[in-house]
Amino acid sequence: MNQAMWADNKTQSNIQELKRSDVLVLGPESGAQACGEVGLGRLLDINEIIALTSKLFSRGELSGKKVLITAGPTREAIDPVRYISNHSSGRQGYALAIAAMEAGADVILISGPTQLAPPDRISLIDVVSARNMHEAVMSNIENCDIFIGVAAVADFRPSHYTEQKIKKHGQDIAHIELTLNPDIVASVANAKPKPFTVGFAAETENLDVYAKEKLIKKNLDMVIANDVSDARIGFNSEDNATTIFWEGGQSILPLMSKQQISIKIINLIAEQLK
Ligand code: C5P
Repeated sequence: MNQAMWADNKTQSNIQELKRSDVLVLGPESGAQACGEVGLGRLLDINEIIALTSKLFSRGELSGKKVLITAGPTREAIDPVRYISNHSSGRQGYALAIAAMEAGADVILISGPTQLAPPDRISLIDVVSARNMHEAVMSNIENCDIFIGVAAVADFRPSHYTEQKIKKHGQDIAHIELTLNPDIVASVANAKPKPFTVGFAAETENLDVYAKEKLIKKNLDMVIANDVSDARIGFNSEDNATTIFWEGGQSILPLMSKQQISIKIINLIAEQLK
């Protein structure tokens, strides 16, 4: 509305009455008005209205917490046209980022290349390789309360990047030498101070044994294990089923959507932080 209408005593006493009745009043904003005047009375920016309104629905378990999440695959370049990667869709990492944001956290999502739309109200940092992801994580880890390493980080990268496209040259066999990539979740778990650090264990056999080993070996606070040999819950699926381990406890989450499972994982993390 016009600034004089907003400033009018009647408008102001009505607004105060609404506020006293617990009605949430968003805005107004100050600025140029359609009539040519300048002042308070403008509609708030739509994104701000969405952000303020969504807070009403926040479950609040992670309110005030800073959460860093990695998601998706990484790509390790061989030459300008080829790379090594994997089938990770990024869905589980993005779903966890949204669940954490809806629980009231400030979320930074560091994502390898995916087909997914950037989620609203989450800071997204796009990266390509494991080394890019490592660098982005370490430069955002300060004051972080929770780190969740969901990304399917390539364990190895080609030792030498070939500047020009590699040609066949008539041979039947070609070799690519590989070098171990930095372990991002382990780097975070060894940082000081260390955030509550959660890793994933995607295994095709001995799920429990390998997951518990990972908890200790990588100094994690929680590990989320899934059996990727089961096509219903594999890398590219919509659903997931997991067993979650922490020191002295475990929780089995049966088959459900990646969104539903994310809410349950966030609840379990919030309980551990209490
Ligand atoms: O050792 P493994 O790859 O099975 O461990 C999986 C967990 O470690 C996941 O949480 C994944 O995001 C993380 N990881 C990582 N950096 C790597 C390899 C794995 O952060 N280089």
